[in-house]
Amino acid sequence: MEENLKIPAHVALILDGNGRWAKKRGLPRQLGHKKGCETLEQVVEDAARLGIRYLTVYGFSTENWKRPEEEVGALMRLLLQYFTSEIDELNEKNVRIRILGDIDGMPGGLEKQKDALHAAIRRTHENTGLQLNIALNYGGQQEIIRAAQKLAEHVANGDMEPEDIDRKAFESELYTAGLPDVDFLIRTSGEMRLSNFLLYQLAYAEFYQTDTLWPDFDRHAYDEALLAYAKRNRRFGGV
Ligand code: IPE
Ligand code: IPE
Ligand code: MG
Repeated sequence: MEENLKIPAHVALILDGNGRWAKKRGLPRQLGHKKGCETLEQVVEDAARLGIRYLTVYGFSTENWKRPEEEVGALMRLLLQYFTSEIDELNEKNVRIRILGDIDGMPGGLEKQKDALHAAIRRTHENTGLQLNIALNYGGQQEIIRAAQKLAEHVANGDMEPEDIDRKAFESELYTAGLPDVDFLIRTSGEMRLSNFLLYQLAYAEFYQTDTLWPDFDRHAYDEALLAYAKRNRRFGGV
């Protein structure tokens, strides 16, 4: 990677294509997810090295529960594995973990996962390095509706007037409260859609897509994406 390159402060990732990666090799989809997890570990490590401040990763959407039970089970096992085997190393690297989404609204039978997520948040809370946000049981529309409900409660309780609802108040009720807007969104595997990810926060993000399937998203692919970002001319509606 070249020195002095313009690095986005907040990168969001829709890591897609694990299933197709496995299918191409005649392997079960689960193995694609396993390989995808390894790719994620590398990408997180590189983000810290490159000076990215916030990395927000789409791990599991509110719609992903529609997948076959066997695949959901495998993903939940991987999630637990990631949060138990990686947490020491992430903590040592000064990474702060935050979860975006409805952890407690995950189906029953996932108590171990929920405990591991809460433990990781607590344990890394004071870390000052890379902030790793993992979107789990996350939906962008649900997040916006939830914020509207919370604001309505404040108004109903008399703590707030309707005209006090401005960007700042609204953003403080999103899962991403306190985070800056996304600068750069990467989606792998060639799909050109948002799939209900960060609908509010992506307002002025630069969008990058690559046909590379997520498990193949190596350092070279990452560098290529960041190089593309460095060449973008962001105008935010100006000239
Ligand atoms: C992304 O890979 C991982 C998750 C959604 C959890 P997919 O599982 O969506 O892989 P494809 O899109 O079917 O290839
Ligand atoms: C988006 O990928 C969700 C995650 C990466 C976790 P999907 O594979 O679920 O999205 P669609 O179904 O192709 O839109
Ligand atoms: Mg997919």
